[in-house]
Amino acid sequence: MSQRVYIFDTTLRDGEQSPGVNLNLNEKIQIARQLAVLGVDIIEAGFPIASAGDFEAVQGIAREIRGVTVAGLARANFKDIDRAWEALKDAEQSRIHTFIATSDIHMRYKLKMEPDQVLEAAVEAVKRAKKYTADVEFSAEDGSRTDPDFLCRVLEAVIAAGATTVNIPDTVGYATPQEYGQLIKTIRNRVPNIDKAIISVHCHNDLGLAVSNSLSAIMNGARQVEGAINGIGERAGNAALEEVVMALRTRKDFYGHDTNICTEEIYRTSKLVSKLTGMVVQPNKAIVGKNAFSHESGIHQDGVLKERTTYEIMNPAMVGINQTNLVLGKHSGRHAFRERLSELGYVLSEDELNKAFVRFKELADKKKSITDQDLEAIVEEETRRHVPATYSLEYLHISSGTTIVPVATVGLLTKEDLLEEAACGDGPVDAIYKAVDKITGISCKLLHYSLDAITGGKDALGDVTVKITNGNDKVYIGRGVSTDILEASAKAYVDAVNKIVYEYDR
Ligand code: KIV
Ligand code: ZN
Repeated sequence: MSQRVYIFDTTLRDGEQSPGVNLNLNEKIQIARQLAVLGVDIIEAGFPIASAGDFEAVQGIAREIRGVTVAGLARANFKDIDRAWEALKDAEQSRIHTFIATSDIHMRYKLKMEPDQVLEAAVEAVKRAKKYTADVEFSAEDGSRTDPDFLCRVLEAVIAAGATTVNIPDTVGYATPQEYGQLIKTIRNRVPNIDKAIISVHCHNDLGLAVSNSLSAIMNGARQVEGAINGIGERAGNAALEEVVMALRTRKDFYGHDTNICTEEIYRTSKLVSKLTGMVVQPNKAIVGKNAFSHESGIHQDGVLKERTTYEIMNPAMVGINQTNLVLGKHSGRHAFRERLSELGYVLSEDELNKAFVRFKELADKKKSITDQDLEAIVEEETRRHVPATYSLEYLHISSGTTIVPVATVGLLTKEDLLEEAACGDGPVDAIYKAVDKITGISCKLLHYSLDAITGGKDALGDVTVKITNGNDKVYIGRGVSTDILEASAKAYVDAVNKIVYEYDR
């Protein structure tokens, strides 16, 4: 019988643990809103005891997001659980997700606890969480490397204590699909009260098997899959949710199960997560990579033109990739602009629409044909900025060449003034960034710089992402879009600097 598989999204918790990712509150809320539109069943919003920022994010998401369960992570101790509840208590539907490691290696070296002590801590944690909410998930960390007899004992005990979901993480990405599927089967056969809980899986991708392991687990009785958008997460990441979802949808004939995900929102969600985290999606990534639906070989192109299904197993529209190319031009008016945006799924406030329209007109002057991707880039840049633009780029002059030292003069506008400085650097981008530092008085270190062309052609929009730090261990991500890559570089840097200023002010 076909059964629903629940999708537990941990982009904001395990995904945010990716090295170099640091989302602020507004960015997390923005992602949570999109996850709700995507139709995930559970959003793991953070680990409330880990930091004040995590607490605020879980609380903010719990207060705002409706129609989705909001989960907060807690180790198996009362302090963590009480703090998680404090953050979650205003949610429409809340879940406390408590965990403790159960493998010999983790119990001996990390926890320095005996198995019976771990079992007792797990049970007490679930009982504590149960006082707050009916919906309690227990995770046996490093479950795939845990002695199956002990794992079954722990699961039986936590279900008896009230756990409604039991999660078996492949924490270090060590399992293989056959072995992991077999483990889920063993749990189903050997845990006497297993019918009172949903079996969940949480796979890491160290051997590139996270999605395969998750699917194998579903074939053996798992009914919740945990993962992250674009597969981001600790080390090699978590199972990419979009891949699990599309495998189930496209091969329903084989798996016989499906999810409640609105697949048409996948691409938009992927892009949002990529932009806000600064984690670029590899071009050949399944489902959401730039090349996932491109056909290069003549034979393939010919086949697709004759009959799409010759080489395409999924229609790009199913994941929300709109292939209309020529959309608007410089003579298009506000009405057509608004209509096209709404077809693309954007509902903007009047103010956002005005700003985006000005950007559109500026772009239309430089670029003959404006594609959907161009429109999306403009709109996302205008609507994404959730920290005040203390500084905005007013102008930029560059003098550069192969035989001269690059010099940049930059003008930044604040509410009161136009501030101007000049600086030289190792290259034009370096010179711009030094001039910006002189104006703001904040000395930043550039950790990462990437440039992507949004569409093809000489007049493509350049999309720059930077990651900077100003001495503490925090990373600030900025993005800028322009047909001029130096302007895009300057905008990205100023965007990141504005985040630093915002955090200082708070
Ligand atoms: O990978 C893991 O084991 C985890 C648990 C906290 C669920 O992220
Ligand atoms: Zn994990």
